[in-house]
Amino acid sequence: MRGRRDRALEEQVKVKLAPSILSADFARLGEQVRAAEDAGADYIHIDVMDGRFVPNITMGPVVVEAVRRSTSLPLDVHLMVESPEHLLPSFVEAGASILTVHQEACPHLSYVLSRIRELGVGVGVAINPATPIGALEEVLGMVDLVLVMTVNPGFGGQRMIPSTIDKVRRLEALRERMKVSAEVAVDGGVTPERVPELVRAGGRILVAGSSVFNQRGSVSENLAALRRAAEAAG
Ligand code: DX5
Ligand code: ZN
Repeated sequence: MRGRRDRALEEQVKVKLAPSILSADFARLGEQVRAAEDAGADYIHIDVMDGRFVPNITMGPVVVEAVRRSTSLPLDVHLMVESPEHLLPSFVEAGASILTVHQEACPHLSYVLSRIRELGVGVGVAINPATPIGALEEVLGMVDLVLVMTVNPGFGGQRMIPSTIDKVRRLEALRERMKVSAEVAVDGGVTPERVPELVRAGGRILVAGSSVFNQRGSVSENLAALRRAAEAAG
């Protein structure tokens, strides 16, 4: 029989993988999403960009709806948009399971987070690299997920900003001090080389785009490499 300590260690290294379709081949999107599901992904991460909050434009509810038809995995929708409150119902109708908004895009953040909760989906809040974790203190008890951006959002394939690792560590300490159960996700430049330190710092959901969908390996090989790296951290 396993003791309490073993179980605690097991929990400590339980890491979920959230492939970001931003780097997928959009001509074969359904196929790529199914490949990620077959390879054991835990979520599908969908990056919504409006060309204002970030300098790029990507996808909207129509794509979420298409992904919803391709997989039974939960859809983690990352809204990099200004005034996200206006868009929340349409993403829920399209099939989002979690809606994550940016702290920097919401002057009335607690209102927006309550709206997401009322809509009956998971509640996430994201922070950019320059935003201190203290900016989340008042809302940490309201969310299921905190998404720490480890690059400046807008594009896939960037290098992780090393100082964000310590930020993940400090967020983890704050989370423990406040005794809240929100999961910590990291997003941007997540590669197998970076995974052990991110997991040791407290990252429990790893969002990865270009290290999952690329020409170097199959989706299944790439996810296996990330999973091995996460296990190595324990
Ligand atoms: C960046 C997005 C990320 C992006 C990550 O603005 O929020 O989810 O897809 O891509 P990689 O893993 O290539 O950095
Ligand atoms: Zn993202």
